[in-house]
Amino acid sequence: MIVILDFGSQYSELIARRFRETQVYSEVLSYRTTAAQLRKLNPKGIVFSGGPNSVYDKNAPKCDPEIWSLGIPILGVCYGMQLMVKQLGGEVTTADLAEYGKASLHIDDPTDLLTNVEDGTTMWMSHGDSVQKMPPGFDLLAHTENTPCAAIADHERKLYGVQFHPEVVHSIGGSALISNFVFQICNCKPTWTTEAFVEEAIREIRAKVGHKRVLLALSGGVDSSTLAFLMHRAIGDRLTCVFIDQGFMRKYEPERLVKLFQEQFHIPVEYVNARERFLSALNGVTDPEEKRRIVGHEFIRVFEESSKELGPFDYLAQGTLYPDVIESADTNMDPGTGERVAVKIKSHHNVGGLPKDLRFKLVEPLRKLFKDEVRKVGRSIGLPEEIVQRHPFPGPGLSIRIIGEVTAERLNILRDADLIVRQEINRRGLYNEYWQAFAVLLPIRSVGVMGDKRTYAFPIVLRIITSEDGMTADWARVPYDVLEVISNRIVNEVKGVNRVVFDITSKPPGTIEWE
Ligand code: XMP
Repeated sequence: MIVILDFGSQYSELIARRFRETQVYSEVLSYRTTAAQLRKLNPKGIVFSGGPNSVYDKNAPKCDPEIWSLGIPILGVCYGMQLMVKQLGGEVTTADLAEYGKASLHIDDPTDLLTNVEDGTTMWMSHGDSVQKMPPGFDLLAHTENTPCAAIADHERKLYGVQFHPEVVHSIGGSALISNFVFQICNCKPTWTTEAFVEEAIREIRAKVGHKRVLLALSGGVDSSTLAFLMHRAIGDRLTCVFIDQGFMRKYEPERLVKLFQEQFHIPVEYVNARERFLSALNGVTDPEEKRRIVGHEFIRVFEESSKELGPFDYLAQGTLYPDVIESADTNMDPGTGERVAVKIKSHHNVGGLPKDLRFKLVEPLRKLFKDEVRKVGRSIGLPEEIVQRHPFPGPGLSIRIIGEVTAERLNILRDADLIVRQEINRRGLYNEYWQAFAVLLPIRSVGVMGDKRTYAFPIVLRIITSEDGMTADWARVPYDVLEVISNRIVNEVKGVNRVVFDITSKPPGTIEWE
């Protein structure tokens, strides 16, 4: 294992993902982790992340100085390197020229950390401070035009520092450098594979759960589906999957999901039809946050009732992922044992969370995985692409895609329009080009003409976007002919709609959803 000590960098998670791409397991821990805790964890290597501070700031985060003498190889990145230099007796100064963006790396020592990294390769820089004088025992590995010490090493103690960010995609030689650190310097073996994960997860689930019963709330997304597969493989019919149909899913989705699980995967699913109940709870409600609150609250009530009816259960299986765990990396480490302590409970629907008094013990087999790793696991255990690659879908579903009041009539209209959007995008093989592609119904009416008749009906908004992570997004440049077919079909086939508009707002300033 490689441990990444997080000094507040926006890239710590990315560093962990890049290291895992070499099939070596890596974890992000707080910079406060002590040498004694690290000794217990016994990683093969440690990475010090970058961070927003200068090492001279009054509250600059520092590491336990004992860490330098653990005898474990260390790679300091940006701030991590500067901290290494300062604590080991070198000099860091504020550079005359801050360096942001791409820089050419001139290699002074093409061995060791920089084996197979080409001279002149592009590396990505983002720093105000620079190393002026290396600590005793260090040699220069590389420089750039503005940074005299861009990579340094104390070969004997296996301490390395780089001023650039090898983890970002713009750093062309970054993956070679990471490989060198992992395999040549730390002597890791590439054992973090999907197959190994599945085997280990099944073993762990069996050991933890024993002969007890487990409840799982299935939503149809990749996380809960992968979870259901793994759990079912591990404990068979001691797993009960519940699917609560709130009535806000897309057309045919609930039926398809249940059928897929029961008939194709042979995993039984308890289908709970709560459509009426959710709809009447939303009667007259127009405020988006109020809708979310009500849907979340109702979900918990139905879930509680179902668990009583079908139970008793000892465990609740949750699809908690690694980013949910490291979000609280600073606070969730037990200072005594160095073990992670329980993190907040996250509902599979992200709508309010499950109440603490449900008193289930948790089993969270995906807690070590990033989203892309969940997809790989899902694929390897046989989940079909339609689930593995499914676009994100909000917990409150279509209820927040009908602006204003939600009614049965409006839900039907939106479902039919939304199906056409999906069909046309799928037909052209465009589904994976977009982050999300959906329809929104506006509660206003406008005038149109069909045949010789005047119409007065709802407009549908097409929201089709590209994004890396949902935090920022751009409207997709959907080919005009695709838009034309979608528009024609919706207006002709969906009763109650006479106009289709295309949302060309990016995020920010817009959001992806309309509510
Ligand atoms: P926004 O609209 O904030 O959406 O740009 C960002 C991402 O989050 C999804 N989203 C939700 N997911 N419950 C969820 O589980 C919600 O209440 C919710 N609201 C938005 C949205 O679909 C997009 O992927």
